Amino acid sequence: MPLKILFAASECHPFAKTGGLADVVGSLPKYLHELGHDVRVVLPRYYNVDRTKLNRHPAPLGVPMGIIGELWCGIYEGKLPGSEVPVYFIDYEQYFGRENLYTTDGGSGFLDNDNRFVFLSRAAMQLAKMLDFHPNILHCHDWHTAACALYLNTIYANDDHFRECASILTIHNMQYQGEFYNGLMNVLAVGWEHFNFREIERYDRVNLLKAGVTHSTMMSTVSPFYSQEILTPDFGYDLEDTLATRKHDLWGILNGVDLVDWNPKTDKTLPARFDASNLKGKAECKKALQKEMGLPVRNVPIVAMVSRLVSQKGFDVIAEAIHDLLAMDIQMVLLGSGEAWAHFYFGDIAFLYPNKFACKIGFDAALSHRIEAGADMFLMPSRFEPCGLNQMYSQLYGTLPIVHGVGGLEDTVQNYNEATGEGTGFKFYGLTAKNLTNTVGWAVHTWYNRKEHFAAMQKRAMELNYSWAVSAKTYEMLYYEALKRSNKPQP
Ligand code: ADP
Ligand code: GLC
Repeated sequence: MPLKILFAASECHPFAKTGGLADVVGSLPKYLHELGHDVRVVLPRYYNVDRTKLNRHPAPLGVPMGIIGELWCGIYEGKLPGSEVPVYFIDYEQYFGRENLYTTDGGSGFLDNDNRFVFLSRAAMQLAKMLDFHPNILHCHDWHTAACALYLNTIYANDDHFRECASILTIHNMQYQGEFYNGLMNVLAVGWEHFNFREIERYDRVNLLKAGVTHSTMMSTVSPFYSQEILTPDFGYDLEDTLATRKHDLWGILNGVDLVDWNPKTDKTLPARFDASNLKGKAECKKALQKEMGLPVRNVPIVAMVSRLVSQKGFDVIAEAIHDLLAMDIQMVLLGSGEAWAHFYFGDIAFLYPNKFACKIGFDAALSHRIEAGADMFLMPSRFEPCGLNQMYSQLYGTLPIVHGVGGLEDTVQNYNEATGEGTGFKFYGLTAKNLTNTVGWAVHTWYNRKEHFAAMQKRAMELNYSWAVSAKTYEMLYYEALKRSNKPQP
């Protein structure tokens, strides 16, 4: 039977994006909708979301914020492009009327991120009531909306409106937990009895992700391997014990790719298009990329990176290896933004190696497509990677990933086998500059000397099936299972 599903999230492509969370929230609901479900998405109305393209609801929404009192916000409504999925934007200028989503330009988190995202979570609950939308599934994403699961079990536990509702928390990243001063309990307003080690408290602070882990009916992570890794101290970021108590309610479901957005055969952002049967267009994309990035147009392998520049992504290790990497006859292209040191460091490297290293600091969606298309290899030495989308985009664009074998990278990249020619990329284990350099060297050597293997891998990678259709079906199973486990009536 069809379900009513409410997604509550802090990002959604194309409205607001810093990373892959936006890609997931911008595409999974469309596929669930195609399966016949009534899916709706709740998001903040950040400064960059253009209100003139949306419909304003006539009535404002009241959001109780504990000690702060009731805050009133506007509601705007739009649709996920190319679909009938409604998106509701919570319009509260004081919290969300900022260009950046989470941080100041200097990169430090806004001081009121606690109130901002508790507000978003509570607003999602109140909005469901205002719309007379009775969800069967409340789908929270990361710490920003984890409090919805807590609310469902506390303030709204006896509310008839949510009588048929179970909650899902999808963990996209264990590193960010939304941990704040414990005075936030007075804003959450669920009662101090929940401020204990088992539920919300960690080192005398409020930990919103932990609240979601303990209170959600079921959980998922964005790849099967990561769902195992986070139960260990190396990847659990101190919540592994709490997670272990719920490991039977935790599934790993691989992210998919939105093939409307990411398809080299139809991609309008590219100077030329191509597919697995004919890579001529890719060669044109490569030349155009070299021109665009100010690199000499030569037939050398291009190793590309598109990323948030944060410790998760291993850019400190790339920095350590960079002179050895650039000693090879290659070009490197970097698009990214994040930690300030990386902006300066890689800017300097571009200055030192003008013919080999090109870098653009900033966020540029169209350029990220042109890089995926024009490069030969894509470097992702992540310390941990819950799923990772770029290595999937790369493979579909015939650009072979070079990855550290963790999380979703381990699940999605098949290592090159020199003897048989099998594989779709190059993997290493143990995140050191030496391993990284050796593996890039291996990929470069293959590009120069085993051309037939490299070409066969490109073709194999481009033919992989990463459609959301498969994962959406698994989410559907998760939803039904959550309803069963919560003992809520099933539609
Ligand atoms: P994460 O969510 O951890 O950042 P993912 O690989 O899952 O990593 O997703 C990153 C997404 O953000 C991809 O769609 C990638 O293309 C995009 N992205 C990251 N940095 C930039 C940037 N500077 N410009 C454009 N797109 C970017
Ligand atoms: C997170 C993870 C990334 C994942 C994305 C979408 O930002 O870092 O690995 O692909 O969420 O789920």
